[in-house]
Amino acid sequence: MDSQYTVLVVDDDPGILAYLESLLSLDGYRVMTAESGEQALARLNNGVAPDVVVLDVMMPGMDGLATLRHLRDRDPELPVIMLSGVGRTATVVEAMRAGAYDYIDKSFEAEELKLALEKALDRRRLVQEIRELRSQLAEQEQLDPIVGVSPTLQAMKDLLDSVADTDVTVLIEGESGVGKELAARRLHTKSARRRGRWVKVNCAALPPDLLESELFGYEKGAFTGAQKRKLGKFEYADGGTIFLDEIGEMGLPLQAKLLQVLQDREFCRVGGNEPVRVDVRIVCATNRDLRKAVEDKEFREDLYYRLNVVNVRIPPLRERREDIPLLTRYFLHKYVEKYGRGPSEVSDALMAYFLSYDWPGNVRELENLVKRLVILNDERFLFSEFRAKNVTPASPAAVPVAPADPLDQIEIGEKPGEVISLKEIARSAALQAERRMIAAVLRQTNWNRRKAAQLLDISYKTLLYKIRECGLEPN
Ligand SMILES: Nc1ncnc2c1ncn2[C@@H]1O[C@H](COP(=O)(O)OP(=O)(O)OP(=O)(O)O)[C@@H](O)[C@H]1O
Ligand SMILES: [Mg+2]
Repeated sequence: MDSQYTVLVVDDDPGILAYLESLLSLDGYRVMTAESGEQALARLNNGVAPDVVVLDVMMPGMDGLATLRHLRDRDPELPVIMLSGVGRTATVVEAMRAGAYDYIDKSFEAEELKLALEKALDRRRLVQEIRELRSQLAEQEQLDPIVGVSPTLQAMKDLLDSVADTDVTVLIEGESGVGKELAARRLHTKSARRRGRWVKVNCAALPPDLLESELFGYEKGAFTGAQKRKLGKFEYADGGTIFLDEIGEMGLPLQAKLLQVLQDREFCRVGGNEPVRVDVRIVCATNRDLRKAVEDKEFREDLYYRLNVVNVRIPPLRERREDIPLLTRYFLHKYVEKYGRGPSEVSDALMAYFLSYDWPGNVRELENLVKRLVILNDERFLFSEFRAKNVTPASPAAVPVAPADPLDQIEIGEKPGEVISLKEIARSAALQAERRMIAAVLRQTNWNRRKAAQLLDISYKTLLYKIRECGLEPN
């Protein structure tokens, strides 16, 4: 055994305690003992943290079952092996139901106990590993920001954040590539369900029959080829979030079934009559005009209202061009880091094209373009592409520096009528614009200053200085 594991042995019989202590110590375990359930719990309260517990069923006072329940309440992942007298099947069954990991007869062979302990520890390691991976994943997800400084995007993020931790159904609308999935994921990662599963189903990818069994599962024998029961995505997502992408493509019969799930929170698997209950948060997305689909009788009106409890519309990139420079820089950093090559910035001349192009593929198109730029490490091919598409570059004056017109918000002097020089006006305007940009990026990175500095393309030290200069504070 590479590291020492701690076993807590609980039994009212001192003979058994002594025997197990010597047996398991010889095997390299650190052994703690307790003569009663009460004493075992007291030991845990005093900071003893066993990796596995061996627990006698029959004890005076708090018996094995009651102790087991207490242990499970404290730490549901702590494996407990029950030691039972011979022929006490009923108790054993009850113990297993209450969450015991394993049980062995008191007439056990030493090998049997050792094997049971190893199995329990293996499982514990696995559970811990999974938990660690999950939390790493969650962290990573958290680090996937929605980048942008436009007021519309900001408002959208605020809306997402305000409903994330509720169970309301959210419908996300927007053209292809605007970031609908990113928004949906944010709802999941910012909710208490983030430890549950995130399950995505593309409703346009499967023919209706297959989509139905994909979503709701089927019973053995439901159709030819259904050789055993299969769970659907709704069951798989229990405790988490299901993302129904391209919901507008779902056929009418399935819409009826989905409506029923939304109403009753239960459904039957295909070919079954037993209702299945699930606890799932539903988020949908579409790039179709669903309201129009309702008018055209292609989408059920009652379902539309059920899904559209909260509506999030993500505007196309061409309606929020001020997001383009920051998004460009964000993707540039991302791919330069990934591929270990590429330019550190985009030239003003190329940015002028970026700013005037209409981006029919929205953010995804911009991302792919920046990715190609990084891989090819040469702007020239992009210029010729834009020219071939007849894009006229934006004039430098069109380059937005901040979300709103900075002139509206500049405070010129302390007192009314105070005369200040043009130079000062320019300086003040620049500062205001800078302040707003820095604030937006900090908000976006959750005040991760290193990341913000990277995005703003300034040094970490400069950013700290500017934060102080602008009087910015996390709220
Ligand atoms: N504001 C944003 N900040 C950072 N990345 C973004 C943003 N918006 C979109 N992206 C990125 O652009 C790509 C497309 O986004 P996403 O898949 O969420 O779009 P979509 O609306 O679901 O598109 P489709 O309708 O084609 O499925 C993804 O790689 C996503 O990470
Ligand atoms: Mg999508």
